[in-house]
Amino acid sequence: MDETNKNVLGDCFTSAKALTESGVSHVPTRYILPPSQRPVLSPSIGTGSINLPVIDLSFLHDPLLRPSVIHEIEMACKAFGFFQVTNHGISSSVMRDALDAATGFFDLPAHEKMLLVSDDVHTPVRYGTSINHSIDSVHYWRDFIKHYSHPLSKWIDLWPSNPPCYKEKVGRYAEATHELHKQLMEAISESLGLEKSYLQEEIEEGSQVMAVNCYPACPEPEIALGMPPHSDFSSLTILLQSSQGLQIKDRNNNWISVPYIEGALIVQLGDQVEVMSNGVYKSVVHRVIVNKDVNRLSFASLHSLPMNKKISPAPQLVNENKPAAYGDFSFNDFLEYISRNDLTKQRFIDTVKKNKF
Ligand code: OGA
Ligand code: NI
Repeated sequence: MDETNKNVLGDCFTSAKALTESGVSHVPTRYILPPSQRPVLSPSIGTGSINLPVIDLSFLHDPLLRPSVIHEIEMACKAFGFFQVTNHGISSSVMRDALDAATGFFDLPAHEKMLLVSDDVHTPVRYGTSINHSIDSVHYWRDFIKHYSHPLSKWIDLWPSNPPCYKEKVGRYAEATHELHKQLMEAISESLGLEKSYLQEEIEEGSQVMAVNCYPACPEPEIALGMPPHSDFSSLTILLQSSQGLQIKDRNNNWISVPYIEGALIVQLGDQVEVMSNGVYKSVVHRVIVNKDVNRLSFASLHSLPMNKKISPAPQLVNENKPAAYGDFSFNDFLEYISRNDLTKQRFIDTVKKNKF
């Protein structure tokens, strides 16, 4: 294989997993990041002493105790745009089954996964590597399958048929995250002083993209990344990880490693909530580091309003003193943007801001 070939025509495809399995001792040139973008992997930096918020959701259903949970959520959204949740209602067996099915998928022979390959961001079910292997100038040590997931009956027939348990196991997890997203959005609306039912219908009928990510062990984790710094276009992203690897950027621009907590799920604010809140909350910038020893899997469930429904600042959060700081955008607008632009050069949310300077 010609390692300098940037696959401009998509005629050459090598997954990160295939590279790991071939036993390479160096990453191919296309994965090498410019020095300024390389992660610092020293254990004392990045893991820091900051305690990232972990919120117990069991009291969300208790009318007396709900306000204190809402308050915790507000604090976490303001400080980080990020929190982990426990007692979230999704059983550990549903999460384990989903991870097992994903392992089974990525373990399939290349030709079988290639049945679903596509570099067209509008394809509802697609397998790929890096961010978009046919255009990325730097490649990322990540393979993925992404599939639309809501309403499940509309999309599930297009999902991988192998391993045979995939549809059932991942389908169960997808439905459970859709439900959790509804509850979290109610809480987030409340925490902003909006009605609990704000945008309820659009959220119920919203789109859900499940990004199932595979980050194989990488021979040179100090010069490569699993995913570049970005924020998600979603309202919220609910993330299940099999081991540590995610880092978030804090308000002082430091990278903080997100600890792995057995049974917990990660909640990240996306660009849609930043716009809806008129900037009271900010979407969290995050990236993925890789490591020499462990294959890592994650399910990033990106929830948003329906495909063509535009989100805009909530009228209740706009007034003379706080004019609307954002225009509006839909999931489809975001797809149009990424089909033409490199997200590592300019964040999508910056194009939605009214005052761009
Ligand atoms: C994503 C993402 C993080 C992870 O898919 O958008 O940020 O830990 N994933 O896989
Ligand atoms: Ni992300």
